Amino acid sequence: MSTAPNAQRIWDHCEALARLSELDGGLTRVFLSKEQKAANELVLGWMVEAGMSARLDAIGNVVGRYEGARPGLPCLMMGSHLDTVRDAGKYDGMLGVVAAIECVHALNVNAVNARARRLPFAIEIVGFADEEGTRFNATLLGSRAVAGTFKAEVLDNVDKDGVSMREALRAFGLDPARIGAAAHRREDILAYAELHIEQGPVLEAEGLPVGVVTAINGATRCAVEVDGMAGHAGTVPMSLRQDALAAAAECVLAIERRCGREPELVGTVGKLECLPGAVNVVPGKVRFTIDIRAPRDAMRLAAVDDVLGEMRAIATRRNVQLTVAKTHEGGVAACAPWLMEQIGAAIAAEGVPVRELPSGAGHDGMAIIDVAPIGMLFVRCEKGISHNPAEAITLADVETSARVWLRFIETFDPSRKP
Ligand code: HGY
Ligand code: MN
Ligand code: MN
Repeated sequence: MSTAPNAQRIWDHCEALARLSELDGGLTRVFLSKEQKAANELVLGWMVEAGMSARLDAIGNVVGRYEGARPGLPCLMMGSHLDTVRDAGKYDGMLGVVAAIECVHALNVNAVNARARRLPFAIEIVGFADEEGTRFNATLLGSRAVAGTFKAEVLDNVDKDGVSMREALRAFGLDPARIGAAAHRREDILAYAELHIEQGPVLEAEGLPVGVVTAINGATRCAVEVDGMAGHAGTVPMSLRQDALAAAAECVLAIERRCGREPELVGTVGKLECLPGAVNVVPGKVRFTIDIRAPRDAMRLAAVDDVLGEMRAIATRRNVQLTVAKTHEGGVAACAPWLMEQIGAAIAAEGVPVRELPSGAGHDGMAIIDVAPIGMLFVRCEKGISHNPAEAITLADVETSARVWLRFIETFDPSRKP
């Protein structure tokens, strides 16, 4: 057995990454930003210290490789994302990258024979460049590039400053025409395994430090534009208004009502922009986002249909124009049972009861599943809080989850794949 992973180093590395932010007093690190460039440099260095070769791939993912018993073997791919939402927590994404690197570090300084421990497979760790979709309203960009499913049309998406993804890639030193080079062949990846905070309350409620993920809920995201008529707040009678914000507000409540009808269904309006945005002007235009998720695709798709139907009725009644663009659609991504069993066995071997649970949050495995079977290990987080600076974990749970993860790596048996 290798030396134990150093939990304090994992903790310190998360702290170091949390300081690379565009937000004073908080954490925001978006795709292709100068903060991400600095984070990539840190992670590349940690990968090399752990005994890996390390590079930036064609879309800006950080990719570390630890060869197996002989060079060029298919890999167990691990990792998570290095980008964050706005005003984020320190562990969503970053913990999975840093913990995986620490496990390789522990393999590489094997205390038993003072030589690096080599396995019958390679290990590749990926720090994905954009999972959240914060900057360009398009998600899973890094993992889609690795899976070979990146859609070139998103290169024209623009950020809040009007900069296109294409321009941002070039400014970062990357060539948008070469993104295809990031794709992996199916035969080169044995499996993808990601350690991630639960971002939910189940493990804490049951007093468990870790759990095995069964599936990642499916998600539909839309960008909505409501076009009414801007007008003078003092002169336009209420009965003659085409108030885009009042119409949008009815839509938001319709989404909340419909998605509140089934316990496992969730619907969120996370962004809303009201234009022209003056105290004495009836809003003429509103843009907002919709995010609807469920553990079963039929449940989600029915809710999306109902919501869009009700929004069209609201728009007609209020004499405003509605434009809806689907920005993301991903079905339920089921974790491979043969990986769940091996992750569960590693948890049990560390003396922890094995709890299986679904993921309400999305993860890069939703993209990587197109090129490899996926498995996930969840780590307890305080009150299940995430996408919030109050996101918190304990050093003890970092220790436990890293020991489980190293044991999973050392006992990983790709021959169990059906
Ligand atoms: O939205 C999600 O579930 C993930 O954090 N991107
Ligand atoms: Mn997230
Ligand atoms: Mn995440």
